[in-house]
Amino acid sequence: MAVALFTLFAAVGWSPSPLHRRSVPTHVDPSTLVLRRGASAVMHERGIRGALRARLVGVGSAAPEQRVDNHQLARVVDTSDDWIVQRTGISARHLLAPGEGLADLGIAAATKALQHAQVEAEEVELVILASSSPDDMFGDAAHIAKEVGCKNAAAFDLTAACSGFMFAVATAAQFLHTGHHRTALVVGADALSRWVDWSDRNTCVLFGDGAGAVVMKTAEAHQRPGVLGYEMRSDGAGRKNLNLGYQGPSVHLTDEAEGEVVAEVTKGEYQPIGMNGKKVYQFATSKAPQVLREAIDAAGVKVEDIDWLLLHQANIRIIEIVAEKLGIPMSKVLTNLEEHGNTSAGTIPLCLDDAVKQGRVRNGDVVAMAGFGAGLSWGAAVVRWEGPEVEVESGQEVEEAVAVD
Ligand code: UT7
Repeated sequence: MAVALFTLFAAVGWSPSPLHRRSVPTHVDPSTLVLRRGASAVMHERGIRGALRARLVGVGSAAPEQRVDNHQLARVVDTSDDWIVQRTGISARHLLAPGEGLADLGIAAATKALQHAQVEAEEVELVILASSSPDDMFGDAAHIAKEVGCKNAAAFDLTAACSGFMFAVATAAQFLHTGHHRTALVVGADALSRWVDWSDRNTCVLFGDGAGAVVMKTAEAHQRPGVLGYEMRSDGAGRKNLNLGYQGPSVHLTDEAEGEVVAEVTKGEYQPIGMNGKKVYQFATSKAPQVLREAIDAAGVKVEDIDWLLLHQANIRIIEIVAEKLGIPMSKVLTNLEEHGNTSAGTIPLCLDDAVKQGRVRNGDVVAMAGFGAGLSWGAAVVRWEGPEVEVESGQEVEEAVAVD
């Protein structure tokens, strides 16, 4: 018993030393943690993968105004609306115009998420931006936090490509679970239009720009945990199949007086996105179902308990295969890639926002989410959505929707 308790405390970052005891938040009772069924051995090796005392309580999104549909794109590159729709399900994408920034999208999405959650910006203690394409290579999170008014927050960027939002939710949930932070803003945003080769039809038809954000809060002692289970994976061996690699031209640092080269360095420059589409397709259709099953198992729920499946919006064929492998009907699958294409770390919160604002995802619904992409990386989380519901105008998909505080 003592050994089991120690293992549990170690897994949640607690030790019986006086120093650590002081840092244990009083509102988190480790005995109430939900552990994966029969998971004691796994817990010992890899830490707890069960529920986390974190809740998702608000969502917002933003996309650039500039919209390019497949017919327009077919005037630029050798492709067709038929090919893109049939092979990917994408009909249009929104692209940043010159003068617009990725951070602008993040700021807009984050502001809307806070409004939706009815949370004041000053309450936010942690801002995580998942992105592979920031305006500033040193990171955009602090800038977004400042512009949104999160003056009490620590902010940082996290890069895990198209899995970035899943990894960021899991990261924020750890801080919320321990109570170190009580309110977090997680933004997923990318502008891969800046990094594709617009003459490469294999890649340029797939991507769009966009951002989504969720507000997360610690689940208090009287509240149910909202992150029911999660899992994250990566394998650098697959990097060759999807990358945005550095390749800068060399620059000589010269002693002008002596005419001697003192050192040789490289100038900051990247190659456009390189992708082996078939390999990424195979990876996604095999790993996404696996990681989702692991997260579902960690959550201690059954596939039938899942109200919605929300996958990274890369390709409708990938989404259909993953849903089929899990035995989830397409009526429970959320998609919006037809309008936005693949916005990388932005897809999941952007699609969640659409679904919540359409009144499809309702307060209390269980949503299984999964991201997959460059790294290679992949991750999943099963969450209970606890944001306010919205009034749905007549004519929209769901007739009844109840606005809650
Ligand atoms: O966040 C993760 C990001 N990446 C992904 O999700 C990519 C995953 N992979 C995929 O979604 C699919 O592999 C693609 C959509 C990229 C490609 O679909 P595919 O069914 O695997 O097509 P393919 O690469 O086998 O190409 C079939 C044909 C080829 O012509 P031939 O050799 O059969 O004559 C391509 O040259 O389609 C041609 N093709 C195109 N034709 C018109 C490739 N891209 C295009 C295009 N328009 N945009």
